[in-house]
Amino acid sequence: MRLLTAIAAISALLTFTAHAEIRYEADTKIFRIDAGATSYVFGVNDMDELQQLYWGQKLADGDKFSTAHSNTGHAAFDLPSSTTPQEYAGWGAGLFEEPALKISFPDGNRDLVLHYVSHVIAGNMLTIHLKDIERDVTVDLKYAADAATGILGRSAVIENHTKQPLMIEQAAAATWTLPRGTDYTLDYLTGRWAGENQLQQEAVRPGLRVLESRRGSTGSQNAPWFAIERAHTNDQDSGDVWFGALAWSGSWRITIEQETLQQVRVTGGFNSFDFGYKLKPGEKLETPVFYGGYTHEGIGGASRLLHRFELASVLPQKPNPRPRPVLYNSWEATGFSVDEAGQMALAEQAASIGTERFVMDDGWFGQRKDDHAGLGDWYVNQQKFPHGLKPLIDKVRSLGMDFGLWVEPEMVNPDSDLYRKHPDWVLNFTGRPRTEGRNQLVLNLAREDVRQYVFDFLDKLLSENEIAFLKWDYNRNWSEPGWPAVAPDEQKQVYVKFTENLYSILRELRAKHPKVEIESCSGGGSRVDLGIMRYTDEVWPSDNTDPFDRLIIQDGFTYAYTPEVMMAWVTDSPNWANRRTTSLEYRFLSSMQGSLGIGANLKNWTPEDFATAKRLVEEYKQARETVQHGALYRLISPRGSEASVTESVSQDKSQAAVFAFLHSSQFGYPFPGLYLRGLDPKAEYKFHWISSQPEMPSPSDQLVHKTGQPDQASGEWWMSKGVDLMLRGDFQAAAFRLDRVGQ
Ligand code: DGJ
Repeated sequence: MRLLTAIAAISALLTFTAHAEIRYEADTKIFRIDAGATSYVFGVNDMDELQQLYWGQKLADGDKFSTAHSNTGHAAFDLPSSTTPQEYAGWGAGLFEEPALKISFPDGNRDLVLHYVSHVIAGNMLTIHLKDIERDVTVDLKYAADAATGILGRSAVIENHTKQPLMIEQAAAATWTLPRGTDYTLDYLTGRWAGENQLQQEAVRPGLRVLESRRGSTGSQNAPWFAIERAHTNDQDSGDVWFGALAWSGSWRITIEQETLQQVRVTGGFNSFDFGYKLKPGEKLETPVFYGGYTHEGIGGASRLLHRFELASVLPQKPNPRPRPVLYNSWEATGFSVDEAGQMALAEQAASIGTERFVMDDGWFGQRKDDHAGLGDWYVNQQKFPHGLKPLIDKVRSLGMDFGLWVEPEMVNPDSDLYRKHPDWVLNFTGRPRTEGRNQLVLNLAREDVRQYVFDFLDKLLSENEIAFLKWDYNRNWSEPGWPAVAPDEQKQVYVKFTENLYSILRELRAKHPKVEIESCSGGGSRVDLGIMRYTDEVWPSDNTDPFDRLIIQDGFTYAYTPEVMMAWVTDSPNWANRRTTSLEYRFLSSMQGSLGIGANLKNWTPEDFATAKRLVEEYKQARETVQHGALYRLISPRGSEASVTESVSQDKSQAAVFAFLHSSQFGYPFPGLYLRGLDPKAEYKFHWISSQPEMPSPSDQLVHKTGQPDQASGEWWMSKGVDLMLRGDFQAAAFRLDRVGQ
């Protein structure tokens, strides 16, 4: 065990070596990117195509590849353009696999064959210039290497240098090719409203597996993330894993394809369904970034790399996002019935338990009594707030909290002044019905006037009020995605321009109001991706706030996204979603696995509830840096198990926080032994209960507890001898911290 732990420590060190180097060897025409613990290699082959050669564990510096050679295939049915693993294949020359780029030219030609022309290496960035063999259409492939994690960010810029417009029918950011193998398991996330982020696992088989959203935004049916494990085992923390995430909040598509020669390719970018981007002479289209990474440390290692990458290189406060404040949100307590007195009373109660931010949710604006009216009219409702927002904001701030506000900028209710004035501002096809979802329509943000309106009202709101935080909601998906104001062959640009304008509004707001933080919410977790995370500090993973359902949603969530952004509220019991009853302690511990929020109706709390909450909020603050920025180990998965345990270890290994849950125990079996991971084996750690086991059911349990567990021991002890928790019963939970002593 000592040897294993030492090997794990060395490999962890290797992973954390910050190093990136991009080389081109002119004699063999080979590109090699070494970053973190990863090497990525491709070359220009005999056909002048870019051909992938290697992606995996970092190779020795002296290891040499010979020139790339295209695959001739094994039959006339498999042409070389198909069987050669191209870095970025145009649809042409007999490509049967998923193309990265498909273009239709005005003369009817749809053949596109991209050849290498030149390249530029600038620090951690590589740009490769490709051109069609005949037409003046170019593609700049971009590679950005992250030295710390080895994650590569890939994207493409397609440019029309011809004298005619052309139509892009399909455009990916990148194709990733895995080493040849037939024992791959695909991990991906599926979901729906109130049931987001369910981890799915299946063998990669011949043919095409599609993960996508056709909804105009990210969606929760699939997350734009994948991981592929070789020789899948139940060990979270060892084994080869290739993973990726697409940074795009519009319709997207990732395909996982095992082709004729059993090579596995992953292609991702704009969704090609209903896609058509007209590129006039001199214009260009830039794809989203598709991030990809590799680890030898299992699916757990893959998510730890992604978490570090998101914190250091994606989130708006990169490279050191400040830990999320503990917030209170009014939604589950008051629904739309917000008013000055009620919100002030809640704010006082929230402050008394140590909450740092008070967020007023839906209902404060326009004629908003319920979800039938008001969206689009962003003025303060005079009946509810006769003196405007100022008295409430002042009150919140005088209580030592900052103030946050809910908005849903991209939507409009037909029953609103905005819609009565601008019925043409929504997505629609002329003369066709406009399908409502939650009684609302989608504003066409691709329009410049709509973009300006949205920016202006938000800018005004933030300029006139001391608002520290916006909860930016988006409560339906698209229907009838027409844009009648532009020419028919330009209307489908809405799939790109809507999202680009959303990003530009967020970017400009942040630049003008740098202290304002933003949460991306979409009726729960329907707009979570690395694109929106560039502009938003946190996300709302699900409207489902049942603490047990949340364990599974949160487990799935963290495969792709860092716990820092995972807002989790403690709400009322029985929970509205499923009538499940749980203790306040259990609800807190479930939420403390992410960014803690309180969403309960505090008016109904007892003095004991306030005391419990105050104690646990304080405990959370002692561990939140570790939970939000640390390395996450899933000791026991909540999927298909009676128990669930996560451990977070701070980056400097000075603290670990462990959250353990038992949803039902049967036949008196003891709770599984917990063998911690990621600690410094030689350091001493002191044990501290965040929340102790609710009760010791029998004297013998107490004996085991007392004799089995020291107050202080080495990291080796906690990892090898482990911790015994005596959880029994239904919906029980406990949590503890280990704090390094003497350093
Ligand atoms: C959906 C969100 O997910 C909820 O938290 C809440 O903000 C409502 N919208 C308000 O309408």
